[in-house]
Amino acid sequence: MSTVAAGWRLPVALVVLCLVPVTSGTLRLVQLAGGPEIMPADDRWAGWPVALVVHIVGSAVFALVGAFQFVPRIRRRHPGWHRRAGRVLAVAGLLVAGSALWLTLLYDPQPGTGVLLFVLRLVVATAMIGCLVVGVAAARRRDFTTHRAWMIRAYALAVAAGTQVFTQGFGEAIFGYGEARGDLLKAAGWVINIAVAEWAIRRPARRRTPRPRAVEVASS
Ligand code: HEM
Repeated sequence: MSTVAAGWRLPVALVVLCLVPVTSGTLRLVQLAGGPEIMPADDRWAGWPVALVVHIVGSAVFALVGAFQFVPRIRRRHPGWHRRAGRVLAVAGLLVAGSALWLTLLYDPQPGTGVLLFVLRLVVATAMIGCLVVGVAAARRRDFTTHRAWMIRAYALAVAAGTQVFTQGFGEAIFGYGEARGDLLKAAGWVINIAVAEWAIRRPARRRTPRPRAVEVASS
């Protein structure tokens, strides 16, 4: 596979990862706007719950636009786009985390979830705000290594919503249902994402200049 195609593999995989939560959010918005009841009804979302609407719109922007910030070709050839999209993403990320705190603290808990998930949501949302603030501050002082690391962490925490579809889906199929089990399976989504993020941050940078071909080496 060419280096160009390889550069697009990650964003495509990230978009696929987020498809389920982004689609369910879109369906929830359609339902709130008076459309068909495709999502299971939830009395907590009666009326037009601003926190939920902000959360769904903010997370869709953060997950989908954010995926393309990882394409090296876009960063190199269109730095203006990376900067402009980055500003939008910083706001979207703060809206995701802020609305997550709002939903956790001011709405009844999601039926079937427990204290562990309640606490984890508060911790993760606060950590995400911290990652974004440190990441944006680093970009402003042109410390791009630190910027990259903290933005990867913020993104990883957010898109755990996609990983949780798998940890919960497969986990409940294997271990069965239960409040603590469900909370732990969601926690596993965050643990997996943060482990992958730390691996990506520490991984040595890819070689940018292609290796000389064997024939060129031979003729030199
Ligand atoms: C890309 C990232 C994310 C996406 C796509 C996403 C998507 C969604 C969607 C679609 C809902 C609505 C569920 C429904 O209609 O019942 C929701 C609810 C919620 N999300 Fe997120 N979310 C993301 C990140 C996060 C993060 C990072 C947190 C916390 C740290 C979080 C906390 C919550 C909370 C507390 C609720 C309300 C759950 C309830 O009580 O039913 N989300 N999210």
